[in-house]
Amino acid sequence: MSTMPTNDDVIKALSTVNDPEIHRDLVTLGMIQDVKVEGGHVSFKVVLTTPACPLKDQIRNEASAAVKAIPGVTEVTVTFGSNVATSAALNANRPAGIKHVIAVGSGKGGVGKSTVAVNLALALAESGAKVGLLDADIYGPSIPLMMGAKTRPGTRDGRIIPVERHGVKMMSIGFMLPNGDDPVIWRGPMLTGVLQQFVRDVEWGEIDYLLVDLPPGTGDVPLSLTQLLPLSGAVIVITPQPVAAQIGIKTLNMFKQVNVPILGLIENMSAFVCPHCNESTAIFDHGGGEKTSTYTDVPYLGDIPLDPKIRSGGDTGEPVFAAEPQSTQAEAFRRIAQNIAAKISVNSIKRIELPVLR
Ligand SMILES: Nc1ncnc2c1ncn2[C@@H]1O[C@H](COP(=O)(O)OP(=O)(O)OP(=O)(O)O)[C@@H](O)[C@H]1O
Ligand SMILES: [Mg+2]
Repeated sequence: MSTMPTNDDVIKALSTVNDPEIHRDLVTLGMIQDVKVEGGHVSFKVVLTTPACPLKDQIRNEASAAVKAIPGVTEVTVTFGSNVATSAALNANRPAGIKHVIAVGSGKGGVGKSTVAVNLALALAESGAKVGLLDADIYGPSIPLMMGAKTRPGTRDGRIIPVERHGVKMMSIGFMLPNGDDPVIWRGPMLTGVLQQFVRDVEWGEIDYLLVDLPPGTGDVPLSLTQLLPLSGAVIVITPQPVAAQIGIKTLNMFKQVNVPILGLIENMSAFVCPHCNESTAIFDHGGGEKTSTYTDVPYLGDIPLDPKIRSGGDTGEPVFAAEPQSTQAEAFRRIAQNIAAKISVNSIKRIELPVLR
């Protein structure tokens, strides 16, 4: 007589499969849903801690193999869902609906923070996450232009409705200025006031990741921000020149001092790949990101090439990730976005009390 597999058999098999990054099994993590057994056909859903999970294929393969090993199972169907993991510590003192706030900073100006923030936001949105982009560069707001936003935010019941484009909700002081060429001359308390408004008075709705594009340096804005909102982490953008790395380390230390987890370093304007012969040239030197990462003991998230398409995408309001999602340039951003999402998941899960496995 042949044995028929049961739901319990499936759960038992799946509790031997660990999430490759969190190092806990899928069942304990509450990631398994909708188990169905119909004869030899087993199906179940894996609820990931982020839709931008870089290890989806590995999880699919391992979960599928574990279930296939149950006697009587002939076919396995794995589907995916996601529920971005967050933690109580982060939920306190933060507007309802926003799960994670990620600051994108640097020390030096012009290293590509805004470019990186925009393309990472698009990459996270592509994965299915709900994404917001907050331009905290009060002095030199560039997000509206880079995102090609043509409208201004509206209001409803006294609340500001963010502008949405390329699937990302955004807010910037650039929307509020009468003329894009006017300089903004503000002092500390006013800055904090505007930031506060962007956080409290904007109807963000449900947001998995709110990316904050910071102005250069370690001035008032990053510090005010950390006081206004519990940040899930900061990513630091540097360029390969040693001076950019040095200033990047200062910013990194500032975040460390105020207990913001550093998710990692990104090296932007890394090697230039010739579009004609594919030869890679390290115009600003190379490897600064990895060296700095080793030196500071901060994870290295990856590099973004120096590339004319990346620049023109920003100037035309069609970021390279939106214009050419299949390009190698977009792929570089996608990989880094997945790395960031995975790091945030791991950090969040670590803060949640899980039953100890015996
Ligand atoms: N990887 C890249 N390849 C080519 N050009 C790039 C790249 N990254 C950024 N740029 C270009 O460099 C310029 C500066 O980038 P960006 O405005 O993103 O820097 P930033 O760090 O936000 O500057 P700021 O400190 O003024 O806020 C822009 O013209 C942008 O298009
Ligand atoms: Mg900028």
